[in-house]
Amino acid sequence: MRWPFTRRTRATRPGDHPVTADATASGERAIAISTQGGAFLGVASTGDHTTIVHVPPEELRPPAHVDAPPGLLSLPARRAAFVGRDRELALLDGTSERTDPLVVQALHGLGGVGKSALAAQWAATRADADNPVWWITADTPTALSAGLAALATALQPALAQLPPDQLTERAVQWLTTHQGWLLVLDNVTDPAHVQPLLARVRSGRILITSRRASGWHDVAVPVPLDTLTAEESHALLTRVLAQGAGHSTAPLDGAAELCAELGHLPLAIEQAAGYVAETGISPRTYLDLLATHPADMYHQGGEGQHGERTMSRIWNVTLDRLSDTPLAGRILRVLAWYAPDAIPRYLLDGLGKAPAVHKALGRLAAYSMITLDGDTVKVHRLVQALARTPDPRPPPPPAPGHRRRVPAGWRASVRSPAGGGE
Ligand SMILES: Nc1ncnc2c1ncn2[C@@H]1O[C@H](COP(=O)(O)OP(=O)(O)O)[C@@H](O)[C@H]1O
Ligand SMILES: [Mg+2]
Repeated sequence: MRWPFTRRTRATRPGDHPVTADATASGERAIAISTQGGAFLGVASTGDHTTIVHVPPEELRPPAHVDAPPGLLSLPARRAAFVGRDRELALLDGTSERTDPLVVQALHGLGGVGKSALAAQWAATRADADNPVWWITADTPTALSAGLAALATALQPALAQLPPDQLTERAVQWLTTHQGWLLVLDNVTDPAHVQPLLARVRSGRILITSRRASGWHDVAVPVPLDTLTAEESHALLTRVLAQGAGHSTAPLDGAAELCAELGHLPLAIEQAAGYVAETGISPRTYLDLLATHPADMYHQGGEGQHGERTMSRIWNVTLDRLSDTPLAGRILRVLAWYAPDAIPRYLLDGLGKAPAVHKALGRLAAYSMITLDGDTVKVHRLVQALARTPDPRPPPPPAPGHRRRVPAGWRASVRSPAGGGE
């Protein structure tokens, strides 16, 4: 159709007198409507990005009148090997049992200590008491809004086409006008990000997890989370090894020492166990490997330092092991720059042929560097921080007559471009 245009219309309803009307529009994407002198009662839209959403009017009732579907639950997959934390679970229960209409708790601790795992474990126990039980990755205000919008859609699927900001607002209104729900806001980086939400809700339960140890007193009951006890970390190591394919059931020589050496940090224990399981070595041999790969100390301080030190030692041992799969390093380096949860696999398509990419992902998962979840990949943010950080050590000089075990460029390929920690 060419612009400007003139369209001649004819009324066709039975009994109508035939009338004709001219409507003229000019300019790209202009539309013309003739009302023949009457009021215009329709919807006119023009432009490239106009969306018309058809919503049954009853769905637009105030959120206060919307009931949650029974058993509405959204939680990350829980690990089969969850261990211990009885005291912390009881602490979360205890605070939650309070009669205050609104209970907000902030579970804080260093990266890799097990905040998200504990939050998921505890939230699952609330499924009978609360509805919905809804998990939001809330590391940025945008992510928090998106999680709330997803909640609004889950409450009323017919509204899925509404603009995201309207959905977010409806979710907040729903939370404000209902009780008996539980929100988990995972990995909040700044208490200020949750303030606008907390200022509006009056009843319900919110569990925040954060690496931030301070700034919660005004808004939440702080619940500090420490590393595992010696018994718990030993149990974790044993369970992960028991799940590892092909690992012998020989006594775990050096297991207790290894757990102590790793500071009972769950992420570190899990990754070391992944290595031990895949290679079939004993925990003591792994300890020796750690000793021959002296710790890389991060230069920067901060809350996560202890975890980062522990992790960087594990990192070096694992990197050497993965040196026969250079693609794994390239993949890790790419994954390091995305938000850590639910990274679509297709983003890695350009890095190699599909079978090679899947194999490399499988190896990274075997070492617990990543978690595979269907078509998406999850990387712990501590692992990402290490993958973004340049190796502080000078490359070791090759011993005369010996081949280097780590191909030149492998570490560089994992660690460049240079970047800070988290
Ligand atoms: N109590 C636990 N039992 C078993 N595995 C755990 C436990 N706590 C943490 N983990 C595992 O350790 C890793 C790091 O825990 P995560 O909850 O992601 O740490 P954080 O959220 O504090 O950074 C995860 O893979 C998690 O499954
Ligand atoms: Mg977490």
